Amino acid sequence: MRLILIGPPGAGKGTQAPKIKDKYCVCHLATGDMLRAQVAAKTDLGRQAKKIMDEGKLVSDEIMVGMIQNELDNNKECQNGFILDGFPRTVPQAAKLDSMLSQKRSPLAHAIELQIPDSLLVARITGRLVHPASGRSYHKLFNPPAKSMTDDVTGEPLIQRSDDNEGVLKKRLGTYHEQTGPVVDYYREKGIWKGIDASKEPGEVWKSLLGVFEGGS
Ligand code: AP5
Ligand code: ZN
Repeated sequence: MRLILIGPPGAGKGTQAPKIKDKYCVCHLATGDMLRAQVAAKTDLGRQAKKIMDEGKLVSDEIMVGMIQNELDNNKECQNGFILDGFPRTVPQAAKLDSMLSQKRSPLAHAIELQIPDSLLVARITGRLVHPASGRSYHKLFNPPAKSMTDDVTGEPLIQRSDDNEGVLKKRLGTYHEQTGPVVDYYREKGIWKGIDASKEPGEVWKSLLGVFEGGS
């Protein structure tokens, strides 16, 4: 299983990807989580990335491609395949990914677009709570943790992402439509694109994903 999940902020990439990972024993590479780990570790890259993320813009293609290449080459969990969540986000990133995978003779099986109107995303983003160490996410209303502001697995505190507010969301959506919209067309032309309705509740979205993987839809 080698697939990418494309979708705007709050579409449900980080909600569905761990379920795919568990079912198919593949790695889940979330570029946003990787950047936030750099921010938490206070590296130079983390300092630069935080500024860009809080402006709703994109980190350079060169840095992002290097990160993914490193994981695909060295992360043993990726031997069975991978889910890319948040990458590629530009056409140059998509082209680089293609050349990386063709060198390994392991092309993508699916490019899945989680389709949802922008109007539903404000509530999802402003209500999200995350467990920084694992990347697990909750929602104040739609998927609350068992104990308020606490991760169900570790009991550690949950936080809100610094880019999860209405102002930055507007910029992130603008960036998504302008720079990632063409990535959808790129995979459409390659014939591996599938769009699914991500506005339904998470269990229904999961069923639609299974339909794609099992060749039913
Ligand atoms: P990233 O972390 O990838 O953020 P994003 O793409 O904006 O996506 P989100 O994580 O906000 O949304 P999601 O689809 O994962 O939603 P989730 O499942 O959590 O990137 C952050 C930044 O890093 C970028 O802005 C950029 O600056 C930089 N970056 C990252 N990758 C890059 C790249 N390749 N190139 C350049 N820069 C890069 O769900 C959201 C909420 O909704 C949760 O609370 C969840 O519980 C809830 N929810 C989920 N599904 C449902 C449902 N079906 N019904 C109701 N609620 C739901
Ligand atoms: Zn995410």
